Amino acid sequence: MAESWIKVADEGALSDGRALPVYPRGLGMLLVRAGGAVYAIANRCAHMACPLEGGACEAFIITCPCHDWRFDVRTGAFVEAPEIAVPTYPVRVTDGEVFVHL
Ligand code: FES
Repeated sequence: MAESWIKVADEGALSDGRALPVYPRGLGMLLVRAGGAVYAIANRCAHMACPLEGGACEAFIITCPCHDWRFDVRTGAFVEAPEIAVPTYPVRVTDGEVFVHL
């Protein structure tokens, strides 16, 4: 399948401190607004694959609701051991619409 930018949300649906689940091409990911930018991170923890959805978001960190592993939404890195990470995806915001690149 060709790579492309896919619209996943209106920017107005995002709020600081709350991750928004989206499913472009059936792929579960979360949109997180932090520091004035929008990030997309896989909705699947690198520990035991729990959905990250519902985890607390503080600044650039989302905490898995299952066992509290923390990930940086900018890079997907596990804060305590950055060699472990979950996938992240490029995001573009244009005219109030949020796109991810797949
Ligand atoms: S499944 Fe996320 S911390 Fe265990």
